[in-house]
Amino acid sequence: MEGRESSSTGMQLTEVKKIDEDNIDHSIIRRAGEILRDGGLVAFPTETVYGLGADALQAEASRKIYAAKGRPSDNPLIVHICCMEDLKNIVTEVPETAKSLAEAFWPGPLTMILNKNEKVPYETTGGMDTVAVRMPSSKIALALIREGGGYIAAPSANTSGRPSPTLAEHVYTDMEGRIPLILDGGEVGIGIESTIVDLTEGIPLVLRPGYITLDMLSEVIGKVCIDPGLIEDDSKKRPKAPGMKYKHYAPKADMFLVEGEPKMVVKTINELAGEKTKTGKKVGIIGTKETADHYEHGIVFCIGGRQEDKVIAHNLYKILREFDKSGVDIIYSESFRNSGMGQAVMNRLLKAAGHQVIEAI
Ligand code: TXA
Ligand code: MG
Repeated sequence: MEGRESSSTGMQLTEVKKIDEDNIDHSIIRRAGEILRDGGLVAFPTETVYGLGADALQAEASRKIYAAKGRPSDNPLIVHICCMEDLKNIVTEVPETAKSLAEAFWPGPLTMILNKNEKVPYETTGGMDTVAVRMPSSKIALALIREGGGYIAAPSANTSGRPSPTLAEHVYTDMEGRIPLILDGGEVGIGIESTIVDLTEGIPLVLRPGYITLDMLSEVIGKVCIDPGLIEDDSKKRPKAPGMKYKHYAPKADMFLVEGEPKMVVKTINELAGEKTKTGKKVGIIGTKETADHYEHGIVFCIGGRQEDKVIAHNLYKILREFDKSGVDIIYSESFRNSGMGQAVMNRLLKAAGHQVIEAI
């Protein structure tokens, strides 16, 4: 089960080990933990998306993550922990808001930005004095973090810019030959990345919307704002999470979001898809339970019911990767309500589409 490195190519064997969340084979976790403690990389499932793990306290191990993903070095990593007591060892202070949020949402899909201490190398935080911390709820992830030394840096396990992986197969497509081991825990539950909240200044700021909505956060800590840099009209402001400024989650095809009243959206997509098909282009369409049967061209995926935010989030990246496999040239997607968890869905869709939006009229 070693990841042997071939000296001629720099490539290594990538092993995929199936692991059952309800009956964890600890010999696999021990082996994976050993790789992490030795400064190597292991991909593993979390409840949100698959992560690409390395020991967050070893500068050299973090560097390997950037190399394997082709990630810009100014884009900081999230440090994953497995118990609350470990938090104080990597930050200067644990504010009351962090304690309350941890109590309410950890383990779970929430990442908090806090001020880092000297234990966390700048390689892990992309040169920043703050550190992103999350305690995931996946039992496989928690066991691995514990075995790997307690502090595991883990971005989503995709090549930089591509849709995040929700299946081990997605990780294998992007990371084969680059890492020694992938733990295959099956399909993840949530399907999009954690909510990120910055607690380092004044009013808590959501830097990336996710499963934990603004309302859920407000119920626990009062006023919470969304990073103005995430709002499209506010293009003068840059997003505070360095990762949110890059084109991201993107399929290979050119993608457009079509907005408007559902009937008009279907009509517009049918017209556009018809024109493209005539010119020999292969078209992909993201439709919903309510509309999927009304599309007349291309490959149509049903992402869920229009009101089913969680189902839509769960299916989004899988569908984008299916389109990559089927080699479509252009994708038209319906757009969804921009509230609750729909805010996270629309944030990812807009980024996947590089903010190309068509009004259906
Ligand atoms: O659900 C998740 O959060 C997954 C799983 C694997 O846990 N991880 C994940 O990591 O999505 P990644 O690296 O793909 O996204 C981390 C985001 C990036 O946008 C990054 O810029 C931001 O968090 N971030 C990390 N540290 C930060 C910091 N100190 N200040 C501001 N933003 C930060
Ligand atoms: Mg990512």
